[in-house]
Amino acid sequence: MNIVEMILKKKAGEALSPEEIRAFARGAADGSIPDYQLSALLMAICLRGMNAEETACLTMEMMHSGGTVDLTAIDGVCVDKHSTGGVGDTTTLVLVPLAAACGAKVAKLSGRGLGHTGGTLDKLESIPGCSVEKTQEEFVRQVQEIGCAVIGQTHDLCPADKALYALRDVTGTVDSVPLIASSIVSKKLASGAGAIVLDVKTGSGALMHTLEDSVTLARAMVDIGEQAGRPILALVTGMDQPLGTHVGNALEVKEAIDILAGRAGGDLLTVSLELGARMLVAAGIAADVADGKARMTEALEGGSGLDRLRQMIVAQGGDARVCDDVSLLPQARHIIDVPAPRDGYVARMDTTAIGYCAQDLGAGRKKKTDAIDPAVGLVMRVRLGDAVRAGEPLATLYINKPELAQEAAERLQSAIVIEEEKPELPPLIYAAVAPGETIRYA
Ligand code: URA
Ligand code: CA
Repeated sequence: MNIVEMILKKKAGEALSPEEIRAFARGAADGSIPDYQLSALLMAICLRGMNAEETACLTMEMMHSGGTVDLTAIDGVCVDKHSTGGVGDTTTLVLVPLAAACGAKVAKLSGRGLGHTGGTLDKLESIPGCSVEKTQEEFVRQVQEIGCAVIGQTHDLCPADKALYALRDVTGTVDSVPLIASSIVSKKLASGAGAIVLDVKTGSGALMHTLEDSVTLARAMVDIGEQAGRPILALVTGMDQPLGTHVGNALEVKEAIDILAGRAGGDLLTVSLELGARMLVAAGIAADVADGKARMTEALEGGSGLDRLRQMIVAQGGDARVCDDVSLLPQARHIIDVPAPRDGYVARMDTTAIGYCAQDLGAGRKKKTDAIDPAVGLVMRVRLGDAVRAGEPLATLYINKPELAQEAAERLQSAIVIEEEKPELPPLIYAAVAPGETIRYA
């Protein structure tokens, strides 16, 4: 297979053959194709796209580029949830224990923070002692025993995606529907999920900024999952502001615990219930979405969701007392309000900038090797549509380096747009995309 010919072919807008796509994925996985040729091909794919057959083929080749997780020893359907990434997006920590408390089996491989978005592994590791490393046997046993586990990916899963994703990140080739769809779905298929619920974010904090691009991405992923024979569906949900109020690792764990304890709610809970209800349907536990929501709500109100989180933290070596006393989570030394510069209504937010602001405070990494500070981040004090007066807090910074406060405050003030007119509120749930069906809610 001649890689230069493949680059020229894709540059001219032609489709690659299954053999060529296989050579591409294998060459990425084993390092035999140099980075400059992989990068050139990625850029050609980014600019010229891939048809549905090519995208499905790339997904399967990436899935088979390494090992796969075998979850068949677990009774019942293992159901997984995956978000394309957002800010204040803590749905995993809310819905995994709730779904498990309802009888679902959730064997979840999560990721670390990437760019402006947070990662569930970093959040879990902010709980004292909590580990996200397990052998496959331990992982399967934990899910069998308590219904849920959230751990990091093992080294040999989808090595082709690992190589390509690292290049995409530094060559401006992340925002491509076929590349994102094949990257995400290959990992979900390799991780052994029996059924998959996807949360495709849209808006100013999402990978995809427009609704049409987000629906196209959701459709591409659902079609691949269907071809692979896995029950799959996607919700397209809003990321025009941080989903929860807390942004930062321990802060997001605190918010998840507050929700499971019945002390908090809002959009984060709403989206968690919508996704979790569909996981229960996919697992064959709930008859329909309404039944799923009723079951999730019962697990929330009866406290069995929080109980399940406690069990999961214990099983992963962490201090589960945080579930009853959130002050045992890492605490920042300085707490500083960011005031509104003028009167008006909160009209828009640059959610990506808010995510980067938390990253700058130490909640995320700029380089893979950076250490994160689990305690730091910010808490939003306003939501879109709120009326504010000059001087009232827009957000509160939780920081350990006071010298970062001034710049962070200024960035937040410019990321949160205040106008005189009361704005129209964006929807939270835009669409549901299932095999053969797209339902628009907005
Ligand atoms: N997340 C992934 O895993 N892959 C992408 O391409 C984008 C987001
Ligand atoms: Ca099984």
